[in-house]
Amino acid sequence: MQLLQLFEDHLQKNLPHVQSFHPFYTDALGYMLQAGGKRFRPLLLLSIVQAKNPLLIPSALDVAMAIEIFHTYSLIHDDLPVMDDADLRRGKETLHKKYDELTAVLVGDALNTYAFYCIAKSALSSDTRAKLTEILAQNGGIEGMVHGQILDCYFENQKLSLEQLQQLHINKTAKLIAASLQMGAVIVDLPFIEQNRLYNFGIDLGLLFQIQDDIIDKVATSEEAGKTTQNDEDKNSFVNLLGLKKANEEADQLAKRLHDEIEQFDQDISQTLQSILGTYLFRHKNFNKG
Ligand code: IPE
Ligand code: IPE
Ligand code: MG
Ligand code: MG
Ligand code: MG
Repeated sequence: MQLLQLFEDHLQKNLPHVQSFHPFYTDALGYMLQAGGKRFRPLLLLSIVQAKNPLLIPSALDVAMAIEIFHTYSLIHDDLPVMDDADLRRGKETLHKKYDELTAVLVGDALNTYAFYCIAKSALSSDTRAKLTEILAQNGGIEGMVHGQILDCYFENQKLSLEQLQQLHINKTAKLIAASLQMGAVIVDLPFIEQNRLYNFGIDLGLLFQIQDDIIDKVATSEEAGKTTQNDEDKNSFVNLLGLKKANEEADQLAKRLHDEIEQFDQDISQTLQSILGTYLFRHKNFNKG
């Protein structure tokens, strides 16, 4: 797909590169970015820009890259022994397995700040860059992904209510996905009300994405998923709280609702979301055998 290819080319050309006498610092910075991944968040951002003002795609690529780099930092830290202790990610050894824990902690830190650097140097107005910085910081940081991760890890082996689990998933996963859509909307200067609508849609989409991720952890092999699975035993996952059958039903219902909501956006956005999300809304089905 064209947007995906544009994004991959841009990312490969702009991988963090540092002149250093450290033997593998630069390689470690690029390792997990080059390993692949679905690039879901940058595609969401770019799809809104494509729908509303394709001339801005070249500038938006730096911002799309910022989100992917930020997300990749979160994965590198998520896999550390002190968090989820996983060995496989994006079909490769996790960063701390390939190198060591100290490198994984510091590469995560470096990618976190590099993400904001990518926004700062993008060819957009200073107002737009400030707003994008605010959205990524808010949804990725203290009131977003980090909050979700600390809840996720703190409450291992302590059962949460379904309402609390939703809050956890919204913070750790949905807010960054919602932010990706909103950042696309900010780049093309959509009215505030449209930005909000996309953000709220993104929260539900992110919730679905994490329910599916919980299902995949349960039903897929590590080889199929490209990452360590059967790893949520101690977690408050949707599968652990509801059981596999109910988690699947919940995912089906949410996917159907989102499918209907997509049709209610204006035609440009509706078409672009349909084309990006076609393979995602029911992705939990691909892993559920039988
Ligand atoms: C995995 O994210 C972590 C979650 C938030 C569920 P992705 O499923 O988007 O992982 P990649 O980027 O494709 O590797
Ligand atoms: C991680 O959720 C969400 C992040 C913020 C990285 P998971 O721990 O379920 O993600 P996977 O299954 O390891 O990709
Ligand atoms: Mg985790
Ligand atoms: Mg994990
Ligand atoms: Mg998971």
